[in-house]
Amino acid sequence: MTDLIIIGAGPGGYKAALHAARHGLKVIVFEGEHVGGTCLNVGCIPTKTYVHSATFAEAVERQQQVVTQLRSGIETLLSNPDITLVRERASFIDEHTVRGENGQTYSANHVIIATGSTAKMLPIEGADLAVSSTELLQLRELPRRLCIIGAGVIGMEFASVFNRFGTEVTVIEYLKECLPMLDGDIAKRLRKQLEKAGVTFFMGAGIEKLKAVPDASPASYSVLFSQKGKELSVEADVILMATGRKPNTEGLNLKAAGITLAPNGTIPVDDNYQIVNGKWLNGKCYAIGDVNGRQMLAHAAEMQGIHVVNQILGREDHIRFDVMPAAIFTAPEAACVGPSEDLLKAAGTPFECHKAFYRANGKALAMAESEGMVKLCCEPDEGRILSAHVFGAHAADLVQEVTAYITLGATLRQLRETVHIHPTLSEVLIEVN
Ligand code: NAI
Repeated sequence: MTDLIIIGAGPGGYKAALHAARHGLKVIVFEGEHVGGTCLNVGCIPTKTYVHSATFAEAVERQQQVVTQLRSGIETLLSNPDITLVRERASFIDEHTVRGENGQTYSANHVIIATGSTAKMLPIEGADLAVSSTELLQLRELPRRLCIIGAGVIGMEFASVFNRFGTEVTVIEYLKECLPMLDGDIAKRLRKQLEKAGVTFFMGAGIEKLKAVPDASPASYSVLFSQKGKELSVEADVILMATGRKPNTEGLNLKAAGITLAPNGTIPVDDNYQIVNGKWLNGKCYAIGDVNGRQMLAHAAEMQGIHVVNQILGREDHIRFDVMPAAIFTAPEAACVGPSEDLLKAAGTPFECHKAFYRANGKALAMAESEGMVKLCCEPDEGRILSAHVFGAHAADLVQEVTAYITLGATLRQLRETVHIHPTLSEVLIEVN
């Protein structure tokens, strides 16, 4: 019996395997596709390559190079003597044993399920005419017209990037504003900025069905939807469905390990990512990353995996899962950590809100990136920082700095008293009033 089996070599699974091996555990990792998971192969990394390519043709070419290089880096890391990589899908036989596709069985004291998620397609007529973000990244010709259903993270990132490549982009969203986890002001500014760049938004709109346009060559489609009681439609050459993701649990035979899914299809876990049901006797079984549905972010999966391995090792850690930064890589970016101003208000939390604008920052002007805003919320009287929501160039880097302050319990006063290099965008943080 080995120490640990990990099912899935995405950011959650492979980082957990490396951390476990570094601390002396013997690990078996199962991966049925490429190592690196959604993030590396069809998610964060290819989309960021698109963001940083001047043209669609360059993006298509660079995507493969970047992904291949990173993938081979992970393969090298996993060729550790304490890690066995089995390139097969695994399914449970009992709570400590899984079987690979070739029939061989493997047992371990502990099992981590890190199988990720796939795009959720709306159950509407014609849904099969739409593509997921994975298929959109496989296009080899730039679509003339792209209709995106859902103004969440995936919808907004692709709207931004395809608009920049010259595609006519329309976004249809059910809610009144995009990106519900972002501060309302920031989300609105981001949407307005994309509108100014030429993206058309239909907010508060309900999708009804998708239809192929008869006899169209090349093929084109109609998206039928209603907005404020009016029936509308948009024509497009490609329709992207970006309405959320669902956990990958098919084929795992979870029943054999006594695991029951939550009604939303996720594997239910406690705050230490241990599966709350199942029949574990000597060891334990955990679910990390998108499959537990807690925080669908690559960096959340990584930290969850490290936390789980620390528990197995009996090693205490102080990872703050309640302080989870996130970024939307549009142009310009948006990013956040902690509750928005609206959420703090709704919760009745006493707080003050401080703002600053990029247009008053020397570096931003020098970079011709004057469009941007920072909102910091803290406890009264320059007290502990509670959140930061940022829109503008390098928003993710600014939010990362504030994440460190929040994690360490720092106050706004301490942030303001921290020397910042001049001239940097970071200075916007100490300019909040
Ligand atoms: P999402 O949950 O972020 O957004 C889905 C959007 O679709 C929501 O705004 C929702 O209101 C809308 N929607 C749902 N049903 C609809 C309907 N019938 N008609 C119109 N709109 C409808 O999901 P998304 O963008 O698919 O992303 C999936 C996951 O991947 C998220 O958890 C996200 O955080 C993660 N991700 C993170 C990235 C990052 O951190 N930069 C990048 C890409 C994905």
